[in-house]
Amino acid sequence: MMSKTMEECAAKVIREWEARAMVAGGVAQVEVGQQFVELTANVISHTAFGSSYKEGREVFEAQRELQYIAFSTINKVHVPGLEYVPTNTNVRRWQLNRKVRSTLMAIIDERQTAAKDAKGYGNDLLGLMLEANAGKEGQRAIMSMDDIVAECKTFFFAGHDTTSHLLTWAIFLLGTHPEWQRKLREEVLRECGGVGAPLHGDALNKLKLTTMVLYETLRLYGAVTMLTRTTTTDMELGGMKIPKGTSTMIPIAIMHRDEEVWGADAGEFNPDRFRDGVGRAAKHPSAMLAFSVGPRACIGQDFAMLEAKATLATILRRFEFEVAPEYVHAPADFLTLQPKCGLPVLLKLLE
Ligand code: HEM
Repeated sequence: MMSKTMEECAAKVIREWEARAMVAGGVAQVEVGQQFVELTANVISHTAFGSSYKEGREVFEAQRELQYIAFSTINKVHVPGLEYVPTNTNVRRWQLNRKVRSTLMAIIDERQTAAKDAKGYGNDLLGLMLEANAGKEGQRAIMSMDDIVAECKTFFFAGHDTTSHLLTWAIFLLGTHPEWQRKLREEVLRECGGVGAPLHGDALNKLKLTTMVLYETLRLYGAVTMLTRTTTTDMELGGMKIPKGTSTMIPIAIMHRDEEVWGADAGEFNPDRFRDGVGRAAKHPSAMLAFSVGPRACIGQDFAMLEAKATLATILRRFEFEVAPEYVHAPADFLTLQPKCGLPVLLKLLE
């Protein structure tokens, strides 16, 4: 069901690229990074909130500015109480938080009115959450309105920012490794058919090489570069005693390029290492940490992989591409890893 929405959202972007290529003699230069941010925000707006792109856009623009504020203040010395002082940054942060909350509340209110009119809550993420929360007659709601808004914020942000960077880095790696781009195009045409054939979830699940390339992209340029955990009890980890309450960092980006774990070619793009599955790609079965592992692992990983496959398949069927000469390789960690100066790509329309 969701792959259809994903394909429709991707097709809308592709049509714009096609139009640009046609007027430019068959080749268009596009900054794909920004386009993927908008595309993935559109997908999560529709699939999780059933909402229009306009409402989704309001949330995503406000959250994006909040992300930059959070990033620019992350390394500043924390003075207790400063968050309540009306500095310019704090005033802007409060405004943006109010904007996100009021937009989400409007979407939620609309659903609750629909439910009262016996139309039901809807079967997207928000609908399921509200229905579960409403419980049975006479039961108290499990979540407060603040909890629901907080869940929506998490899904909105976690559900698009990371996936947009996965797509951007995948296009970068395919644009610089034409042999893999060719193999993936062949696979997409074989399993999904040519332009116009619908991209069913079943066909997308057969894209083995595409999956391998996406995992290799996540290994080399995963959006989340670091996980933090605080020990809740005194413990021993790898022979080291760690007292309760210690803040620990798990540097995923560094561990993903560790030659002892991934082999001598750890720094190279080699999707073949994932041929026998994620668990067999390295010396340790849980070496791949892009989605984390264990009980707090990413809840949206299948969603992200499906969206990335649907989008890549749509692009590969229509264009051959290479990274534009203006590109500057400067991966930057703004809470999530992204190309600092964007990713300009030359898209050549296929016959
Ligand atoms: C390429 C895309 C994605 C990457 C690399 C990614 C990565 C991660 C990672 C590393 C975590 C664990 C964070 C931690 O333990 O501190 C996480 C958690 C989470 N992710 Fe994702 N994610 C992606 C896509 C998505 C999508 C599409 C959604 C929603 C539709 C999503 C929703 C969440 C949520 C709700 C959590 C918190 C889970 C919990 O704490 O129980 N993510 N993600």
